[in-house]
Amino acid sequence: MALNYTTKEQKKMVDQSMLLCCKFFISEGRNTATLDAVERAARSNSETVIVNKFHDRTYNRARYNLVSYVLHDSTGNVIYSPLHQSVVAMAEAAFNAIDLELQDGAHPRLGAVDDIVFHPLARASMDDAAWLAKAVAADIGNQFNVPVFLYAAAHPTGKQLDTIRRELGYYRPNFMGNQWAGWTIPDILPQTPDKGPMVVSKSKGISTIGAQSWVTLYNVPLLSSDVSAAKRIARKVSTRGGGLPMVQTLGIVCGDSTEVACMLLEPNRIGADRVQSLVEMLAEQEGLDVETGYYTDLSPEMIVEQYMNLTSAKKSSP
Ligand SMILES: *[C@@H]1O[C@H](CO)[C@@H](O)[C@H](O)[C@H]1NC(C)=O
Repeated sequence: MALNYTTKEQKKMVDQSMLLCCKFFISEGRNTATLDAVERAARSNSETVIVNKFHDRTYNRARYNLVSYVLHDSTGNVIYSPLHQSVVAMAEAAFNAIDLELQDGAHPRLGAVDDIVFHPLARASMDDAAWLAKAVAADIGNQFNVPVFLYAAAHPTGKQLDTIRRELGYYRPNFMGNQWAGWTIPDILPQTPDKGPMVVSKSKGISTIGAQSWVTLYNVPLLSSDVSAAKRIARKVSTRGGGLPMVQTLGIVCGDSTEVACMLLEPNRIGADRVQSLVEMLAEQEGLDVETGYYTDLSPEMIVEQYMNLTSAKKSSP
């Protein structure tokens, strides 16, 4: 394949230690045609690598972890990342295929493209991640007419995702006591979005887009179908409920049982071991048994390694 001048010039400037990871969450985990369309869109830029993906039928939700480089000009300003094109194309595919009014699942959601978060990896900076988050947010707001709320490093005052979600009623199930179905958002938003219109399309909903340092996702299964007990335990583990610092949680149904899904915002400070022992202690008080938790994602080191492996495999193939 012939490379044009710009691409050749850019190629010379690519520093493979300047990497961003995008976690892209859509409110669909069952329809194979939709998942395929979103995945094809991710590959619309050949320099974006899908490092791993996660589909959940019960949650009716999917996550894609994408990695690519970020490019700076000679004065150090961030100018380009292949992720930009891929992520906007994925959003377009998701908006075309998902109708939030017809969607239901055991995981809360506000939009067909529910959440997009960028994390700096290796030597890339938080400013790089925030720049890309804002660029993608502007495109999603303008091109698809979807209200976008920015969070963490992409937000002017660092507003956190769970605050935005709480304001928009994200955590309130509206179906069968512990599920989400169809429309859950006010037509006129209670808060002005950072990008896009004030009026929400019922099929697309809203999107949250942020930039933050690596978040570890760790889920602890409870051997019980009692979702109110799971919610009580989740709350007591979370920072908001007076539990561990920099930990956000969700008590959630998972098949025939329940689990405490945890986001560890500073995993080097408060790790999975602390979460596990607190869940065990609280579950014992409720008379419940707990399984050893599991990470729902690779570590950032593994993600970088996987990206390097996949890009070098691509280069050496004919
Ligand atoms: C990357 O490739 C090396 C060598 O083939 C292998 O040992 C390693 O497990 C791979 N890493 C990942 C994350 O797949």
